[in-house]
Amino acid sequence: MILDKIDELLKEVQTLSAKNADEVEQLRLKYLSKKGEITALMNDFRNVAADQKKTVGMKINELKTLATERINQLREECETQETGDVTLDLTRTPYPVKLGTRHPLTIVTNEIIDIFSRMGFVLADGPEVEDDLHVFTKMNFAADHPARDMQDTFFVSQHPNDVTKNILLRSHTSSVQARVMENMHDENGKLTAPIRVICPGRVYRNEAITARAHCFFHQVEGLYIDKNVSFTDLKQVLLSFAKEMFGADTKIRLRPSYFPFTEPSAEMDISCFICGGEGCGFCKHTGWVEILGCGMVDPNVLEQCGIDSSVYSGYAFGMGVERITNLKYRVNDLRLFSENDTRFLEEFEAAD
Ligand code: DAH
Repeated sequence: MILDKIDELLKEVQTLSAKNADEVEQLRLKYLSKKGEITALMNDFRNVAADQKKTVGMKINELKTLATERINQLREECETQETGDVTLDLTRTPYPVKLGTRHPLTIVTNEIIDIFSRMGFVLADGPEVEDDLHVFTKMNFAADHPARDMQDTFFVSQHPNDVTKNILLRSHTSSVQARVMENMHDENGKLTAPIRVICPGRVYRNEAITARAHCFFHQVEGLYIDKNVSFTDLKQVLLSFAKEMFGADTKIRLRPSYFPFTEPSAEMDISCFICGGEGCGFCKHTGWVEILGCGMVDPNVLEQCGIDSSVYSGYAFGMGVERITNLKYRVNDLRLFSENDTRFLEEFEAAD
């Protein structure tokens, strides 16, 4: 009895047809839903005699698979029919390709490079595994400066008899200044061309990893050397940069500071673009946020790199890319930048 019913349904299912998605849904309800005919057969299975259970069970399964496949096939046919005429594009990739997005630090670095390129700066770079000579000695760091300490810098190899030969992971991109300067002069200390470079790159420091500090981060260094370069030139270039990066209403403020490689040195703040300088939680109610260090290149640095400091002067500046990205996009945990969590990275799709 039940076998006859199954055979009948098997024949029916093979010839099913539907004109649209509604009809496919009707067929699904008729055969496969809770109250459908195949489900009813499965419920009857209980009453089948024990010696027939095996044959009947296999037949019901065959029927169910066939019905499911046929109905799915009809559904697909209806879907292609319904959309096919309008959007048929045989050259299209058959599945949606998910494109990646640029990393937020790359987006911001590119923006910084772009702004300075328009002011005539060209790109320069140097190695991340550097020697002491370029990271510290030529940059006028005293022999006992704390940055040379194991606690602050990652060393690759140490030479107690000649610290300038120590190999380390650069702790700032200022080392690229030394690399550029030593290649841009003749034997009399004259420049072969004015130096106007921008040097983006990764730097390393021996810090515990927290939301606010990381063992590696990114900087962009700037250097301009020629005859008669003055602090006014520096200030004007930095003001133009701040306005382009943070908006035309941005103001800057230079505070006296100290770096071994510049004299005089300064730190630059920009007016808080969240409250417009009024004072808010973001700028700790000062109206200003710090974004970079800068100054006039110390004559000792010029001389160490082979440039005649009685003829040439220059300025330099250095900024943290994470810091600027945090300001622009309010990312409040540095670790997000290196965790590769696509949920974070996808948020920058629109900025790219
Ligand atoms: N090298 C400094 C740092 O890592 C940043 C810096 C300050 C770079 C002043 C400069 C400069 O070129 O003039 O904190």
